[in-house]
Amino acid sequence: VTLSARPVLVIQAGATLDGTAPAAGAQATALDRIFRDTSELLAGGAAAVAAVVAAVTAMEADPQFNAGLGSKLQADGAARLSAAVMDGTAGRFGAVVNVQRIHHPTRLALQLLAREDRVLDATGADRLADECREPRQDPVTPTRLAQWRERARPTTGTVGAVARDVAGRLAAATSTGGRGGETVGRVSDSCTVAGNYADNLSAISCTGVGEEIVEAAVAARLAAWVGAGIPLRTACQRMEQELRARHRRCGFIAVDSAGTWAAHWTTAVMAYRGEGPEGRLVGWPDPLSR
Ligand code: GLY
Repeated sequence: VTLSARPVLVIQAGATLDGTAPAAGAQATALDRIFRDTSELLAGGAAAVAAVVAAVTAMEADPQFNAGLGSKLQADGAARLSAAVMDGTAGRFGAVVNVQRIHHPTRLALQLLAREDRVLDATGADRLADECREPRQDPVTPTRLAQWRERARPTTGTVGAVARDVAGRLAAATSTGGRGGETVGRVSDSCTVAGNYADNLSAISCTGVGEEIVEAAVAARLAAWVGAGIPLRTACQRMEQELRARHRRCGFIAVDSAGTWAAHWTTAVMAYRGEGPEGRLVGWPDPLSR
């Protein structure tokens, strides 16, 4: 265990296929706030797993993001939410798949880290939510309902966070409402090790088109490359090149045990925040453009 490691946080709020950010100003403000609040938690000694859950929970609570409240709707007009949390130090993965009537599937995924059965479908997640007294509330917003009625295909917008805490521990959390308009019961990448993975050397969270992320096993393969000794930045560049060559639409954020972080995407843009040189906030929508 590294004592007094520099805490590192990276958050993402979706790879955007067409380069536009609906309400970019509001999105940027929310990302700035969530990044700062979570960075303070980490600086105060919070565990990496607690910090990534806090960041993703805050994005789930904001209806402009496609996770938790304001999730996109499947073909039948229902929101089915999926989320995963991985504690890299413990090597534990917990996830819920397509749960309904909830705003914070990530909190359920966190609960599962301590259990024997750690990935639950909607039936199991429903029971867990009741057992944990997680508030049961409909995440469908009027905006998402209107988009569904108009058969608008809003661009993907899964949210996620990766962190290294002051003890050098790594964690990743990812949450999504899915692609929007998909077949009822379709499963996203976010609740799989392709979309969310961490071990003691790296932590990765993905966004983009779930099928293409699963087919490339993005997060798990990146972690394996870092585990085999490839530096994080090299591994991320190699993954981006491979994804581009195969026309896979994906964005990902990653951090390693030395505190190096990276953000890559093959889509037009990806909403994210991280800390750049001299403590400068970096990301898109541009934190410096306002
Ligand atoms: N990455 C989210 C999804 O495709 O469902």
